[in-house]
Amino acid sequence: MNSKLLKRTLRDGMKADLIVKNIGILLTPKVTKGPIKGKDMDCVETYQDAFLAVKGGKFIDFGEHDFSSLIDENTEMVDAGGKLVTPGLVDSHTHVVHGGSREYEFEQKMRGVPYLDILKAGGGIHSTVKMTQEISKEGLYQQSKKSLDFMLGFGVTTVEGKSGYGLELETELKQLEVQKELHENHPVDIVPTFMGAHALPKIYEADRRSFLDKVIGMFDEVKKRNLAEFVDIFCEDGAFSVEDSRYLLDAAKNYGFKLKIHADEVVALGGVPLAVELKAHSADHLMAINDEGLEALANSDVIANLLPSTSFYLNSTYAPARKMIERGLALALSSDYNPGSSPSENFLFTLNIAAIHLKMSPNEILTAATYNAAYGIDRADEVGRIAKSYKADFVIYDALNWPYVLYHFAINHVKDVYKMGVKVIDNKRKIWEV
Ligand code: NIG
Ligand code: FE
Repeated sequence: MNSKLLKRTLRDGMKADLIVKNIGILLTPKVTKGPIKGKDMDCVETYQDAFLAVKGGKFIDFGEHDFSSLIDENTEMVDAGGKLVTPGLVDSHTHVVHGGSREYEFEQKMRGVPYLDILKAGGGIHSTVKMTQEISKEGLYQQSKKSLDFMLGFGVTTVEGKSGYGLELETELKQLEVQKELHENHPVDIVPTFMGAHALPKIYEADRRSFLDKVIGMFDEVKKRNLAEFVDIFCEDGAFSVEDSRYLLDAAKNYGFKLKIHADEVVALGGVPLAVELKAHSADHLMAINDEGLEALANSDVIANLLPSTSFYLNSTYAPARKMIERGLALALSSDYNPGSSPSENFLFTLNIAAIHLKMSPNEILTAATYNAAYGIDRADEVGRIAKSYKADFVIYDALNWPYVLYHFAINHVKDVYKMGVKVIDNKRKIWEV
């Protein structure tokens, strides 16, 4: 958490530090217990002509009732101008900290070379590993900061971020340290994941187990320096098998890490039942999920984290979101921002794609991009909804309703972004004055 934000928010007494009034529509997911599943994702609390009140960086009240008792001469009053307000968006699967970019592989991809073939030939993730190893810590910080600035501009106030572009201790730690510094200095909160098993270095091809042991050997340092909460692995053809994933995730669990898994992105190997068995917080991608995977998730609280920007960018299949909702799964949506399969920080565009290709309703999308996303990164008790004692992270849009934001696509409709009650983005752009 950014310490400058915290300082701004301390004041004695019962009165609000900030009141946002004249909110045309205020939306927040309808929460009961646990993640929001199946058809419940379509129920969102809606307040009209509403207000919200903040004190000490947290919401203290909101709704349609009279708020005059919360005001004194020090309360800052903001007029939302009848516009739409939602909780700050939560992007719960990103690879935000990485060196360089891969535009030179883009043409290959456009000519139809499959993602996994580029990886097999030593490109893809391996190219970014090289660039991340070579970039200075300062260079990595600046590149990642720029991405976080973009994300914040699209209304994202909390992200998950993974390592995995080092595949050796020094660079994995460099990524995680940069991420920790950004978490402390930037308004966006970052929930850190260690993903040392993101790809198998060529020299370990004949001996995968010793690479996994090497990654497990890094746990100690990561834990000691408090650099990650979660451990993730790429369970996929051409990356790591289900047995490999079980071996690594079991060890991670014993170390006290929480778990995530990249599963069924291209092939349904069996990573999803494994995620359920090990009580992972989320199983991510799921484009190729089969009936066994759906059944396993339906009987669990594991979040199905869908990343439709990746399907869009790889021109591949989309996760069967409607089927998942019918089966009662709890869905989140994330950008998967990374330099290979989803090089865009525009989370609102991810949500546009969810509407068009996943055929999710506006309410389902809001639930998936706020509360359920927070649930998958173990933050459901502090962000992802407008509720008393939650962090006062919220977005004021230059739009009158949420369906409009999803319909008018690929445009940034965000007007102002508040993190812990402090305005951190003001997107009022001056074009020119005559
Ligand atoms: O989530 N699939 C594995 N990892 C990333 C892609 C990483 C890359 O191509 O650099 C993903 O899609
Ligand atoms: Fe990913």
